[in-house]
Amino acid sequence: MIRRQSYSLYGIVVTIFFFFLFASPTLQFCRHDQRDALLEFKKEFSVSYMSSWNNSIDCCSWEGVTCNARSGEVISLYLDNVSLNNTMKPNSGLFKLNYLQSLTLRKCNLYGEIPSSLGNLSQLIYLELSQNELVGQLPTSIGNLTQLSSLSLTDNHLSGKIPVSFANLTKLSTLHLTNNYFESELPLEMRRLHNLEYIFLSGNSFSGPFPSFLFTISSLQVIYSKGNQFKGPIEFRNTSSSSRLHSLSLSSNQCDGPIPESISKLFNLNILDLSFNNFIGPIPRSISQLVNLRYLDLSHNKFEGEVPHCLWRLQVVKLSYNSFSSFGKSSQVFAGTEMNLLSLLSNSFQGPFPHWICDLTSLVFLDMSINNFSGLIPSCLRNNTNLEVLNLGYNSFSGTFPDMFVNATNLKTLDISWNQLEGKLSKSLINCKAMRHLNVGSNKFKDKFPSWLGSLPSLNVLILRSNKFYGPLYDRQASIGFQSLKVIDISQNDFSGTIPAFYFSSWSAMATSQYDNMYMEDFMVYVATYRNSMEFVHKGVETEFSRIREDFIAIDFSGNKFGGKIPDSIGLLKGLRLLNLSSNAFTSDIPQSLAKLNNLEALDLSRNQLLGQIPRDLGTLSFLSTMNFSHNKLVGPIPQGTQFQSQNCSSFMSNSGLYDLEGICGKPPAPNLTPHEWSEPEEQVINWIAAAIAYGPGVFCGLVIGHIFVSHSHKHEWFMEKFRKNKHSTTE
Ligand SMILES: *[C@@H]1O[C@H](CO)[C@@H](O)[C@H](O)[C@H]1NC(C)=O
Ligand SMILES: *[C@@H]1O[C@H](CO)[C@@H](O)[C@H](O)[C@H]1NC(C)=O
Ligand SMILES: *[C@@H]1O[C@H](CO)[C@@H](O)[C@H](O)[C@H]1NC(C)=O
Ligand SMILES: *[C@@H]1O[C@H](CO)[C@@H](O)[C@H](O)[C@H]1NC(C)=O
Ligand SMILES: *[C@@H]1O[C@H](CO)[C@@H](O)[C@H](O)[C@H]1NC(C)=O
Ligand SMILES: *[C@@H]1O[C@H](CO)[C@@H](O)[C@H](O)[C@H]1NC(C)=O
Ligand SMILES: *[C@@H]1O[C@H](CO)[C@@H](O)[C@H](O)[C@H]1NC(C)=O
Ligand SMILES: *[C@@H]1O[C@H](CO)[C@@H](O)[C@H](O)[C@H]1NC(C)=O
Ligand SMILES: *[C@@H]1O[C@H](CO)[C@@H](O)[C@H](O)[C@H]1NC(C)=O
Ligand SMILES: *[C@@H]1O[C@H](CO)[C@@H](O)[C@H](O)[C@H]1NC(C)=O
Ligand SMILES: *[C@@H]1O[C@H](CO)[C@@H](O)[C@H](O)[C@H]1NC(C)=O
Ligand SMILES: *[C@@H]1O[C@H](CO)[C@@H](O)[C@H](O)[C@H]1NC(C)=O
Repeated sequence: MIRRQSYSLYGIVVTIFFFFLFASPTLQFCRHDQRDALLEFKKEFSVSYMSSWNNSIDCCSWEGVTCNARSGEVISLYLDNVSLNNTMKPNSGLFKLNYLQSLTLRKCNLYGEIPSSLGNLSQLIYLELSQNELVGQLPTSIGNLTQLSSLSLTDNHLSGKIPVSFANLTKLSTLHLTNNYFESELPLEMRRLHNLEYIFLSGNSFSGPFPSFLFTISSLQVIYSKGNQFKGPIEFRNTSSSSRLHSLSLSSNQCDGPIPESISKLFNLNILDLSFNNFIGPIPRSISQLVNLRYLDLSHNKFEGEVPHCLWRLQVVKLSYNSFSSFGKSSQVFAGTEMNLLSLLSNSFQGPFPHWICDLTSLVFLDMSINNFSGLIPSCLRNNTNLEVLNLGYNSFSGTFPDMFVNATNLKTLDISWNQLEGKLSKSLINCKAMRHLNVGSNKFKDKFPSWLGSLPSLNVLILRSNKFYGPLYDRQASIGFQSLKVIDISQNDFSGTIPAFYFSSWSAMATSQYDNMYMEDFMVYVATYRNSMEFVHKGVETEFSRIREDFIAIDFSGNKFGGKIPDSIGLLKGLRLLNLSSNAFTSDIPQSLAKLNNLEALDLSRNQLLGQIPRDLGTLSFLSTMNFSHNKLVGPIPQGTQFQSQNCSSFMSNSGLYDLEGICGKPPAPNLTPHEWSEPEEQVINWIAAAIAYGPGVFCGLVIGHIFVSHSHKHEWFMEKFRKNKHSTTE
């Protein structure tokens, strides 16, 4: 995000500069030597897009070419997304354009090495060779480009060391090396770059200790070095006393040791991201002197101890996956706090809910899950009406759940699973009209089925599993609703009674397998917080859930006392991928309508009292890879079809009269043996819903933070794009 922003700003400056200098009417025609050099350059590539580069027009009017209006020298060449599809030749016509001040060959499909003749373009101020496919080392001659102010080599395959001659680029203000294969340490000589403002090193293999000499460059504002191999402690001792550094990201390196107290020398720091390293110790007290700090990410380290209260005036604080255990004694919230995001996920906090968190009324995202907070959930949280995500799961909260959602109209995700909460679900949840994911699983709630939640228009995921919910699903007094539901898990409760045949007909979101972007985005935000959480550290889950597609739609009613007929309307839920009705008291035939669920991947009807035959048409469900009909009263043949034939024998055991099992159960049974006496393989219990929820490829930042910060940079990117087009048209 930082990269884009500053890059755009720089681009704007450059363009304004060129605009004022050269947009005046062209007085002078193109110089012949310049034209010939351009034609030579064109000839090196067999591209049709450059048809405007021909002798019938003045070369200063060629696409992407800008001349100095007085001298007719080519001073800018701009080619974006023109597939040149060739190497850069050492004797390319390009290197005869000695007056070039700005050269952009962006996304031009140039490959091979950068020739050392680049050094010929010693007037260059702006050089961009980003995206597609340059390899090899940077030529030493780059040190000849002493006028260079901005250099971008982003997204190539460049490797090796940064040449010492870089130190010659004393006018350099912006350096983009993101996403290459650069290795080794940065040369110490680079400390001479006293105009450097932005340095982007992310996505390389830079190694050694983090180059703390960068902190001595007082002009430097942004260091972005995510995803390198810097090791060892970081050091701020020699930091310039007039440091302008406002953004520092060292995320995903191998740095260790404590954060030195001397970090306070970076007094302009606004964004500090040290996540995914091996830092240890407490947060230094001197951090309170960083009065401009807004964004702090220390997640995935080995920090411990007390969290100082000065952090509560920040906007984003991410402390997840550390061993922090307490909060500063005088923890109190500053008036006018703007905190949007606080993540305490997976630390060693304990004791009662810290009440001052209620005073962080701007909070949009609060994650306190996987700690050992205990006692009551305080009703003061009702003041936090901006909350969109509230996760209190995996703690030891107890007591009843307060009626705190009267004004929680923004809440999209509520997770209070794995606590010891009891009593009834708070009816005030009815006000959460934005609610998408509600997880109250693994508590001690004792309540009727909350059919009133059916009126929440966007509820996608409802998890009530492992509680003491009881009674029937259907409430004659209420309409069924739940039209947005995609995942429902009410397993391991005491639900009972029959489910009317028409019941599922209102669950319209499950009736389609169409990919719903909104749902997925939110779902991923939700699940991202679950990665690595205990429930999912299950042997085998990793491989299992890779099978589950993103548009996961599931019903788990297992482990209850539902009886009577399996409702026929189940066949309307065409998007369904998992149906688990195991361990109930269903007594009917298996409905034929199940054969319409052609997205079904897992079907578990085991441990019921089901009668009759397995519908033959189930054999046509081509995605159905896991099924279990065991412990019922089924009779007749096993349907044909590879899906059935590849099942484990135990999926059919203990039925009254299933036959044709020889292909499945291996050796034919001895006379009078029912399948349950055949050998049973090792059991691998996998909770599909848990597995699907555990899925989520590092989207946490992209989405949650996206909402607060990144949207900002999109605007810049958009602006830059628009701006390039304008520039383009002025040069044509
Ligand atoms: C030269 O470029 C102009 C402008 O694109 C085009 O109209 C003309 O056809 C081109 N001439 C040749 C010979 O390619
Ligand atoms: C780049 O060019 C290709 C082929 O001309 C085109 O399909 C693609 O949309 C262009 N991309 C951008 C970002 O302009
Ligand atoms: C690039 O050039 C190679 C041969 O030099 C050719 O095989 C390939 O199709 C070209 N690719 C494009 C995108 O023009
Ligand atoms: C460098 O520039 C000079 C002067 O224009 C030219 O003679 C020479 O060929 C150029 N070198 C290369 C490698 O293009
Ligand atoms: C460096 O630039 C000068 C002009 O400023 C030029 O004469 C010389 O050939 C260049 N050296 C290299 C190695 O390109
Ligand atoms: C560094 O710049 C000086 C002139 O400022 C020049 O003589 C020297 O060749 C440059 N070094 C490299 C490696 O380009
Ligand atoms: C700090 O500066 C001193 C004196 O210039 C130098 O000896 C020392 O190596 C520097 N330390 C670091 C960590 O850069
Ligand atoms: C969590 O807190 C409860 C209540 O304070 C305590 O009984 C329990 O031992 C704690 N569990 C762990 C793992 O620390
Ligand atoms: C927060 O809620 C409490 C009652 O729970 C109330 O007394 C207090 O004034 C509220 N604070 C704000 C800032 O609304
Ligand atoms: C809900 O918001 C309204 C209006 O802001 C306020 O009057 C009311 O006290 C709030 N209710 C609760 C329970 O906080
Ligand atoms: C269905 O639920 C039961 C009990 O909750 C569980 O053991 C079984 O693994 C589940 N089946 C599938 C396919 O998820
Ligand atoms: C089928 O369900 C039964 C009873 O729930 C269980 O023992 C067996 O392992 C399951 N089979 C498979 C393949 O999951």
